[in-house]
Amino acid sequence: MKIFVADTYEELSRQAAEDAITLMRSIKQPLVCPASGDTPAGLYKYFTTKKELAVSHWSFVGLDEWVGMDGNDEGSCLFHLKNQLFGPLHISQEKICFFNGRANDLDKECDNIEKFIQQHGTIDLAILGIGLNGHIGMNEPGTSPALRSHVTELDPLTKKTAQKYFKEQTEITTGITLGLATLMEAKHIFLLISGAHKANIVKRILEEEASAQLPGTLLRSHPGLTIYLDAGAAALIQPRTA
Ligand code: F6R
Repeated sequence: MKIFVADTYEELSRQAAEDAITLMRSIKQPLVCPASGDTPAGLYKYFTTKKELAVSHWSFVGLDEWVGMDGNDEGSCLFHLKNQLFGPLHISQEKICFFNGRANDLDKECDNIEKFIQQHGTIDLAILGIGLNGHIGMNEPGTSPALRSHVTELDPLTKKTAQKYFKEQTEITTGITLGLATLMEAKHIFLLISGAHKANIVKRILEEEASAQLPGTLLRSHPGLTIYLDAGAAALIQPRTA
């Protein structure tokens, strides 16, 4: 596990983006799994400012989606990624596989996404964030790390915090997500964490015993994990840890 501590969110985003670009250059046809949410937005923005960045050979697999929503729903995970990443980088539709949270058959959505990953071999880079409850994707506290893609009841804190993605109060109860077993097979994981409000969860995932009750702790055993923190997120950890 490597930990990079930046002074600012901008520096965190730039470093993670540059590291991702360097990594992608070494892979013929990379498969990237991008989280949505506030934290990786700076990294995606940095991608879009790199004029010479060639991404036509990159493919993308969705990390998660709210059940009952698809990319046309404002506030959905795909909606945000279309605006921040896929649209600005002109990624063609056939290079993207994403959960359709409006599908009648959600198990089939899970099968499709797992097949897409298999067809590409494996995820080369998962760009992840973390919830205040330690969730990874929508792998909520208590989720078995043996699960692959699955449908899940959302934790109360996730439902509350997720309201920031919507213009109006929106009822969300369920999510569809890559499982930890799928994510742990990724070759590289970049876990981005920003802001003083995340300082406590950073301390907990680095210092507490690894447990399904705190999914972020389980990533520590991944050999290709890099954690990117800014000063706010790193505020409660010892300098030697960083
Ligand atoms: C988003 C996702 C979530 C977020 C996490 C942090 O696709 O899977 O696990 O990464 O909730 O969200 P932000 O970055 O908005 O604090």
